[in-house]
Amino acid sequence: MRSVEGKKQRDLSPEAFAELAARFAQVTLDLGTGDGAFVLRQARAEPDRLCIGLDAVADAMAESARRARAKPAKGGAANALYIVARAEDLPAELTGRCDLITVNYPWGSLLKAVTQPQPEVLAGIAACARPGARIALLINLAPFEDPDQRDRLGLCELDAELAEQRLRPTYRAAGLEIDGIELHLGALPERTSWGRRLVVGSRRKTLEITAIKSS
Ligand SMILES: C[S@@+](CC[C@H](N)C(=O)[O-])C[C@H]1O[C@@H](n2cnc3c(N)ncnc32)[C@H](O)[C@@H]1O
Repeated sequence: MRSVEGKKQRDLSPEAFAELAARFAQVTLDLGTGDGAFVLRQARAEPDRLCIGLDAVADAMAESARRARAKPAKGGAANALYIVARAEDLPAELTGRCDLITVNYPWGSLLKAVTQPQPEVLAGIAACARPGARIALLINLAPFEDPDQRDRLGLCELDAELAEQRLRPTYRAAGLEIDGIELHLGALPERTSWGRRLVVGSRRKTLEITAIKSS
């Protein structure tokens, strides 16, 4: 897999990744991590957890990846790892590794994959989870409420009821049992950069979906 280290990238061999992961009791994966700030905060708060931020675009993660490499006293976190990859083609090294997978305010093909939903992408995400692992998604409902935007982005309609009807069976088939669907209006306590941009001071709706990886 390709890891991001500031503006540079390097190959992280399966052996080197396995050695790194073995040093931590738990592993978190944040899919579509964007600027990676959420992962850096999480890594600083939970030094015993390997916190992986993954995004198709490396540039946005560069600054968080650079900060993570600093000494702990200067805000560094040796347990933060940034990976460039697409959710449609997740690195095989992640298989069965993760205790928690988060997808915060996805956009583009990731948004489509988790809301249409696309069974093969869901299966790939589920494959990264250990049995009993938790998957937590925060989805901005604004583009689903505007028929023009929905069409332009190639999205189906979505609200809490449709999530229940349409997402639950496909998630279940991928090995992810949905155990929570909650609609939030405005700001949420757990804020990412896009979460802040989208919902703070607004009445935009966020759909929170949680699921458990079945054994
Ligand atoms: C709106 S941003 C949200 C970033 C971050 N999670 C946050 O809440 O601040 C959506 C992110 O999803 C990433 N993304 C979109 N499609 C993707 C895919 N197929 N695989 C991996 N990342 C993807 C984009 O590059 C972008 O960084």
